[in-house]
Amino acid sequence: MSRKDQIDITKLPKHIAIIMDGNGRWAKGFGKFRIFGHYNGVKAVKTTVEAAAEIGLKYITLYAFSTENWNRPQKEVDDLMELLIDTIKKETPTLQKNNIRLKSIGNISDLPAKCQLQLQETIDATKDNDGLTMVLALSYSAKWDIINAIKNIATQVKNNELAISDIDDIVIDKHLSTNGIPNPDLMIRTSGEHRISNFLLWELAYAEFYFTPKLWPDFKEEDLYDAIIDFQQRERRFGKTSEQLITN
Ligand code: FPP
Repeated sequence: MSRKDQIDITKLPKHIAIIMDGNGRWAKGFGKFRIFGHYNGVKAVKTTVEAAAEIGLKYITLYAFSTENWNRPQKEVDDLMELLIDTIKKETPTLQKNNIRLKSIGNISDLPAKCQLQLQETIDATKDNDGLTMVLALSYSAKWDIINAIKNIATQVKNNELAISDIDDIVIDKHLSTNGIPNPDLMIRTSGEHRISNFLLWELAYAEFYFTPKLWPDFKEEDLYDAIIDFQQRERRFGKTSEQLITN
C-alpha cells in the first residue's frame, strides 16, 4: 500500500502548521548561496501545498518569514522579499486551479509596498476558494501577535467596552491575527531542530509536534503523508485519561 493510501482521510488533521527550516544548510551542501536554498524551498512549498489540497486538508500555515528574520543580512532579506513577490504572482493561477484560498498573518505593514500589494491582490483573487486555505506567516512572531492582542484588549477595557472578568480564550482568539482560523492540530518542523521559534505559541497549545531531519527543500509529498500517518496514530487526550476517551 502506498503512503498516501495509508492515510485515513476521515481523520485528517484540520490544520497543519509548518516551520520550513534548513534552506541555508541545503544550499551550503551544494556549495551555493543561501538564496539557492530558498528557491528550492519554494519548490517544496508548491509540492506540499498541492499534495495537501489534493488529500482534502482544510488549512495549512507556513512560517515563511519571522519577525526575527529581518535581522538577516540585507541581501538575503531583499532576495527573500523578491522571491515572495515573484512566487505569489506566478502561482496565483495554480491557487485558483486547485481551489486554494490565500491568507496571511503577521505584521504585513512591515513588508515592502510591492510585496504588500501582490499579497493583497492574490488574497482578494482567491477569497472565494473553499478548498484548502494556505496561510503565510510573514513578518510574524507569536509574541508580536500576543502583544498586539493585549494592547487592543487593554484599550477596550480602558474605554469601558470590555470588562476584565469577560476576558477569556475566545476574547484572546478574536484579537490574534489567526482569528477565524482553527488551531493547528499538527505542527511539522524540518531540519532536525526541535524548537518552536516564536511560532503560534498560543494556537499550538494542544497540537501534536512532528520533527523530521529532512531539510525543507528535500521535503516531498511522502514526507507530508508520513507526518499525517504518524499524527493519526497518536492518542490525543486534551488533559483527559485514556479510559475517559474510550468511554466517551
Ligand atoms: C528557513 O531556512 C527558511 C526561511 C527563513 C525562509 C522560508 C521561505 C521559503 C521557503 C520561501 C517561501 C515562499 C513562499 C511563497 C511561501 P533557513 O534559511 O533558516 O535555513 P538554515 O537553518 O539551514 O540556515
